[in-house]
Amino acid sequence: MARPKIALIGAGQIGGTLAHLAAMKELGDVVLFDIAEGTPEGKALDIAESGPSEGFDAKLKGTQDYADIAGADVCIVTAGVPRKPGMSRDDLLGINLKVMKSVGEGIAKNAPDAFVICITNPLDAMVWALQQFSGLPANKVCGMAGVLDSARFRHFLSLEFDVSMKDVNAFVLGGHGDTMVPSVRYSTVGGIPLPDLVDMGLTTQDRLDAIVQRTRDGGAEIVGLLKTGSAFYAPATSAIEMAEAYLKDQKRVLPCAAHCDGELGVKDMYVGVPTVIGAGGIEKVLNIKLNKEEQEMFDKSVDAVKGLVEACKAIDSSLA
Ligand code: APR
Repeated sequence: MARPKIALIGAGQIGGTLAHLAAMKELGDVVLFDIAEGTPEGKALDIAESGPSEGFDAKLKGTQDYADIAGADVCIVTAGVPRKPGMSRDDLLGINLKVMKSVGEGIAKNAPDAFVICITNPLDAMVWALQQFSGLPANKVCGMAGVLDSARFRHFLSLEFDVSMKDVNAFVLGGHGDTMVPSVRYSTVGGIPLPDLVDMGLTTQDRLDAIVQRTRDGGAEIVGLLKTGSAFYAPATSAIEMAEAYLKDQKRVLPCAAHCDGELGVKDMYVGVPTVIGAGGIEKVLNIKLNKEEQEMFDKSVDAVKGLVEACKAIDSSLA
């Protein structure tokens, strides 16, 4: 059986890391597409040359021609510009919306059966626009944010309790921005919900609140340190986890920006929710129950995403 084909649209910091991870995990052959001449070709060759030492079998190709992504099983989109210090993800909207138009058309023409994972920010609005521009089925287009935000939350929690990250389960709902909702009640350490751990005296509410805030600011913390761009190792790893769930029909329960049709009170828009990812793409959105306080936070986050979608419609009348 032929290897799956993974197309990476955007061969910058995240795109290059995605290619390296996909090859090392032997998820399939990789095509790196970018408008910057030489960048995708150079990265493809460099990663291919790591194959003999690492011992993986995967072909890598760099290109500026959308025809080379033909028949891709998975497309992961990072094309666009990242944040600089002082910028919010929303500041990227105008530039990256134009990029989504060309990417959406390129995917629709050449890889209409692919499972598409968008990473470009501002995530929830860009994945919505990408689905609109590409016309692909909504369950085959999703955005990577929840896995990353949850991984950050899990990392900080594992440090707080000094336990293995493997035993920390946590998830983050809502938009991938300042209003995201790290779910304290549904997050656990070894199966024990976080509020119980406060009652047990293993941490305090204040420390937990600080971890929640650090999670919300997780992307900005990295931008502040790097100064020249935004995070790329963890974002790439998170998207690969989603791609693998699709390619191997793992039916993983992963939070991601998925199209909601009434779930959690959200109608016809993309926002971060718990999903099941398998061979059918986004096979389910888990319609979890939120309490009053969580619902208020979630609704605020949904409103922020709605504002960005309206801004997209104001910029590009074909979306209205
Ligand atoms: N088509 C294809 N590639 C494009 C296009 C386009 N129309 N416009 C820009 N690119 C390419 C750039 O040439 C660059 O190589 O997208 C790549 C982006 O790479 P980086 O600048 O290194 O950005 P990166 O850190 O990978 O982040 C990409 O993901 O997390 C988000 O906020 C982040 O929106 C940003 C995106």
